[in-house]
Amino acid sequence: MSKIVKTQIDQFYFHYPSSATVVTTRAGDKANAMAVAWHTAMSHHPPYYMVSISPKRFSHQLITQSGEFVVNFMPAEMGALIARVAACSGKDVDKFRAFGIEASPGAKVGAPVLKDALASYECKVIARHTYGDHDLFMGEILAVQYEPSAYNEGMMLDLDSQRPILYMGGDYYSTANGQRYLDRAKLLEEVMASRP
Ligand SMILES: Cc1cc2nc3c(=O)[nH]c(=O)nc-3n(C[C@H](O)[C@H](O)[C@H](O)COP(=O)(O)O)c2cc1C
Repeated sequence: MSKIVKTQIDQFYFHYPSSATVVTTRAGDKANAMAVAWHTAMSHHPPYYMVSISPKRFSHQLITQSGEFVVNFMPAEMGALIARVAACSGKDVDKFRAFGIEASPGAKVGAPVLKDALASYECKVIARHTYGDHDLFMGEILAVQYEPSAYNEGMMLDLDSQRPILYMGGDYYSTANGQRYLDRAKLLEEVMASRP
C-alpha cells in the first residue's frame, strides 16, 4: 500500500473516532453547554482532565470567569442534543431552556451535571495555555458522578448494555459495540518465549 502524504493540514479527521462530550459551565446566572471532542485525561494522581476550547466559544468566556467546567460523557441516543448544542452559541441562546436540558449543580462545582450523562467529571481549572487557535484548560477532577448500571465492576463502561457516542468529524457520529480483552503480559511473554 502506498500512502498519501499531506503537508497542507487544514481539516484533519484522521484521529477520529473519539468520544463526543458535552462540556457545561456556569458563571453567575449564565449556564451553557457545548460539544467538545478535543479532551483527554492528563494525570492519575492528582486526577487531571483537559479540554481544548476556542476563545470564540461562549463557553470559553464562562470557564475563564468561573474557573470550572463539567465534562459529560453521553450515550449514543443523545446525539441530537450534542449536534444542537454545537449548532448555536450560548451568546444567543439559553440552550438549557431551548433544548429542555435537564441538569443539576455539581457536587463540588456550580457548573451543571447533565441528567442524561453516563458519567460527568466535575473540574476546577488549574491552568490555561494557548496552543494555536485553541486554549487548553487543565482541570482537576474534584468529583465524578456516574450512572452505576452503566459501568461494570472494573468501573469500565458496560458495552453489553451501553452505547457511548463517538465523533467521526464533520456532522458524523458512531458508537462502540464490542470490546476485546488483550492480556498484555501474556502477549509479551509469548513473543519473548519464542525468541532464541
Ligand atoms: C462533535 C463536536 C465536537 C466539537 N468539539 C469542539 C472542541 O473540542 N473545542 C471547541 O472549541 N469546539 C468544538 N466544537 C464546536 C462547538 O461545540 C460549537 O462551536 C458550539 O456552538 C460552541 O458553543 P458556545 O459558543 O455556546 O460555547 C465541536 C463541535 C462538534 C459538532
